Amino acid sequence: MELFDVYPLFDIAIARGKGCHVWDDKGQEYLDLYGGHAVISIGHCHPHYVDVMTKQLNTLGFYSNSVQNPLQKQLANRLGKISGYEDYSLFLINSGAEANENAFKLASFYNGRTRILSIEKAFHGRTSLAVEATNNPKIIAPINNNGHVTYLPINDINAWEKELQKGDVCAVIIECIQGVGGIRMVTKDFMKGILKLCDKYNTVLICDEIQCGYGRSGKFFAHQHFDIKPDLITVAKGIANGFPMSGLLISPKFTPVYGQLGTTFGGNHLACAGALAVLDVMEDEKLVENAAEVGTYLMDRLKSEKLPHVVEVRGLGLMIGIELDVPYKDIRTRLVKEQHCFTGCAGTNVLRLLPPLCLTKAEADDFIERFKAVL
Ligand SMILES: Cc1ncc(COP(=O)(O)O)c(C=O)c1O
Repeated sequence: MELFDVYPLFDIAIARGKGCHVWDDKGQEYLDLYGGHAVISIGHCHPHYVDVMTKQLNTLGFYSNSVQNPLQKQLANRLGKISGYEDYSLFLINSGAEANENAFKLASFYNGRTRILSIEKAFHGRTSLAVEATNNPKIIAPINNNGHVTYLPINDINAWEKELQKGDVCAVIIECIQGVGGIRMVTKDFMKGILKLCDKYNTVLICDEIQCGYGRSGKFFAHQHFDIKPDLITVAKGIANGFPMSGLLISPKFTPVYGQLGTTFGGNHLACAGALAVLDVMEDEKLVENAAEVGTYLMDRLKSEKLPHVVEVRGLGLMIGIELDVPYKDIRTRLVKEQHCFTGCAGTNVLRLLPPLCLTKAEADDFIERFKAVL
């Protein structure tokens, strides 16, 4: 059997990793400014994570959601404390799209409506309504094209008010820092305005923190830069450092109903152990603070070096976009092939940096040298 060929792949097989570095099967080292697509939060193969996961696997990998799972309660407790959302509750699932799907479902159960507002260039996943809320017609199959979603310009509060005042909007979904959209950020005024309008028209505000959350922006959640509290928050990617897991943080205004949401794998013992180990390391090594400090350092250096082809450097913490005046393709490929450095990308002209949150200033300097060499 062949693999279904949907990914344009680099001809490289990564065999092992440590911190912010990975090695291919021929022993070549790479600097990882991509974090396996923003997934590696505490660094590759962190010894504490490996130890906790190994012990859990030797004890119990999985049992179903029909019995008590104290690890889920521990995780909810710890996540509530570290994120500042102790009064919210947690529902655990397996992927980012699934988290958004459950957020939409809960919102619709709550206000009985079916309309979603999403930002132009948004990406929210590839399942049913998550993909419809994703502003990319190429990945919306006819079966997903059900007219539930209106896409509106980022930061244009008047355009959003016009739609919200119709009184039929179920939910607004926002990435405070767009990932796939090219590291474009909402403004504080826009978010405050959206929150007010959502309250006024009984619309549910969902912050998709799947890429920009979990410490990456230099605060636990990106929306915390804007002093707002959404009704629902979705998290995934870095939550268990690569073990598939996601979560939905739910405000106390929602009442749980037995059977309304559910999952086979979500919140299993191994996933919870991984997520708890991630929080241990994030706290012990102050990784949110590190993301803020090293992110600012790296962005300052990228700006002050006045590098050729670099038009704009934007982002927060360790979620950084480098806009180029040429397509990223050649530069990104040469970074991998000649300089052995992985980065992400967006659109046609943006390099996206999403390293593990433990990136050091020395590694940031190392990236600048490798980057300069291909410009
Ligand atoms: C902002 C955002 N939302 C949702 C998703 C979908 O997550 P997953 O691929 O785990 O379904 C992604 C993935 O890149 C994302 O960046």
